[in-house]
Amino acid sequence: MCGIVAYKGNKDCHPILLDGLKRLEYRGYDSAGTACNHNGKLVVTKCRGKVADLERILKSRKIYSDCSGSGMAHTRWATHGEPNRKNAHPHVDQSGKIALIHNGIIENYITLKKFLKNKKIKFNSDTDTEVLVQLIGYFYNKVGLDFEESVRASLQRVDGAYGIVVLNSDEPDMMIAARSGSPLVLGIKDHEFFLASDISPIVKYTKQIIYLDEKEIVVLKGDNYDIKSVDTNLSLSKEIKIIDHKIQDFEKGNFDYFMHKEIHDQNYSITNTLKGRSNDHDILLNGLSKYWNDIKETNRIYITACGTSWHAGLIGKNIIEKFAKIPVHVEYASEFRYNDTILDNKTVVIAISQSGETADTLAAVNKANDAGAITVGICNVPGSSIARATDCGIYTRCGHEIGVASTKAFTSQVVILYLFCLKLASSRKTIDVKTTLTGFFKDFSNLDKDVEIVLRKEKYIRKVALKYKNASSFLYLGRGLNFPIALEGALKLKEISYIHAEGYPAAEMKHGPIALVDKNMPVIFIVPKDKTYNKILSNIEEIKSRKGKIISITNSKSKRLKDLSDDLILLPNVSPYLFSLLATIVLQLFAFFIAVAKKRDVDQPRNLAKSVTVE
Ligand code: G6P
Repeated sequence: MCGIVAYKGNKDCHPILLDGLKRLEYRGYDSAGTACNHNGKLVVTKCRGKVADLERILKSRKIYSDCSGSGMAHTRWATHGEPNRKNAHPHVDQSGKIALIHNGIIENYITLKKFLKNKKIKFNSDTDTEVLVQLIGYFYNKVGLDFEESVRASLQRVDGAYGIVVLNSDEPDMMIAARSGSPLVLGIKDHEFFLASDISPIVKYTKQIIYLDEKEIVVLKGDNYDIKSVDTNLSLSKEIKIIDHKIQDFEKGNFDYFMHKEIHDQNYSITNTLKGRSNDHDILLNGLSKYWNDIKETNRIYITACGTSWHAGLIGKNIIEKFAKIPVHVEYASEFRYNDTILDNKTVVIAISQSGETADTLAAVNKANDAGAITVGICNVPGSSIARATDCGIYTRCGHEIGVASTKAFTSQVVILYLFCLKLASSRKTIDVKTTLTGFFKDFSNLDKDVEIVLRKEKYIRKVALKYKNASSFLYLGRGLNFPIALEGALKLKEISYIHAEGYPAAEMKHGPIALVDKNMPVIFIVPKDKTYNKILSNIEEIKSRKGKIISITNSKSKRLKDLSDDLILLPNVSPYLFSLLATIVLQLFAFFIAVAKKRDVDQPRNLAKSVTVE
């Protein structure tokens, strides 16, 4: 969603801002803009479309290489008001002195707008954001508060979520930023400061980071920074974190698409997730140790998440119920936050989120915290809002994920859930610890090689995918552990190729989706050699007799399955748990090749955002 990057220092700001915006493109957006302080005036440049369009406009202007000092830039993902130049950020107050960029939603904007209109303030856009800059302008120009007081007074009057940066042409040596609900990080390098909605635009310049917390405001003035509470105006002492990301983590390397790179990253990212998390007889999840005694005694677990992470949650339910014998409910975070969920101080609520910033998941965590439940975060981004809001947690450690469609984060989330589940089961003695853990580690010891075998099949997977690229609808079917994988496969295809696809439990398709099946309908079956194998073969027969096209992903070499399938992708003969991970990778590649063939914007599909920071 909206991306923020700002720079305060003595270098030309525009190249830094544009580079930053390009690194934030992955979040999803539809317009972009910049503002800088130049010779006592604000210069604002904005347009609908891509950062490349903004770059063209900026480079045609003198200001591009003539503006050292402070500047800020924004990519907007439209919520209130359609995506066009007028609604793009930065927005400027009526006096033309104050400019603001914003990530989030001002929920009481209608009331505030009415108030400001009564004060004869005219609006130029359809956005909620403009209300905030006009309000700051009102306090500054009409009430006579100073710049910082005007920002704070305004923030105290808004409901909703914000990550903002504000410039004032009367105060060229100042920049003010604040957050509540939308992430913001400050990068510090000698006499330079960087602000951004995540670390990706900053790592190139500095590894010293301060994560702003809820309702904090940072005032940059001269060479100094001061972080305060929005409400109390008290200065806060904040820890500077040293991040260990490398700039290569944010680049495509030899690949044309981030998504393709990230699918291939899985030949080490899954192992990375597992590293250091076990010894001969135990699973080590240090992030949970303070709460483990309570976690292992729980009698009810909720897993809450959105999108792909929710699919990982479904796998979590399957295995936790199987091995640890605890009932698990999996709920979309957007539902969980408003449902009458039964929570108490014995309930464990696991929130899964790659970004750690998804607004609904964060709200679900807050609700669980308020009810006294034990909250566990499974996040990929250290220091993210959900990682900080939960009582304890486990990082997936799969490296930065940039493609909007989540790939390597999913497989790592699933692996974390295996670890969590086995630790729980061994603490509760619901499994034979020695055999189960030994079996698990033996299975996973070869994982890199198995993933590599699948990745080496990509030419063949591409060939199969291209055969079906013109289909208008797909069905993905699997049972047990592979039902969530079917959902995830269908989601991948939808997200990046814009083809309709549905995932279903293989037998349940008889209750509706089978009506769609005809000779044009490709049906992808996930067919592990397990106890459901023969049942799935019957489901395949049912589709076959209605002339649907069968694509099987299997580790069975049976002739019957081969004969029934129009196409068959054979996977290594691994345990059911590994099989699901390998099948996921096949489905990621399948969707990827169709999307590329259809010339889709694979890394930034239309209308989608990587990190959904609004409700
Ligand atoms: C967006 C992304 C998805 C992601 C979902 C949840 O919809 O496009 O790829 O699965 O958000 O994100 P999270 O960061 O919470 O896992």
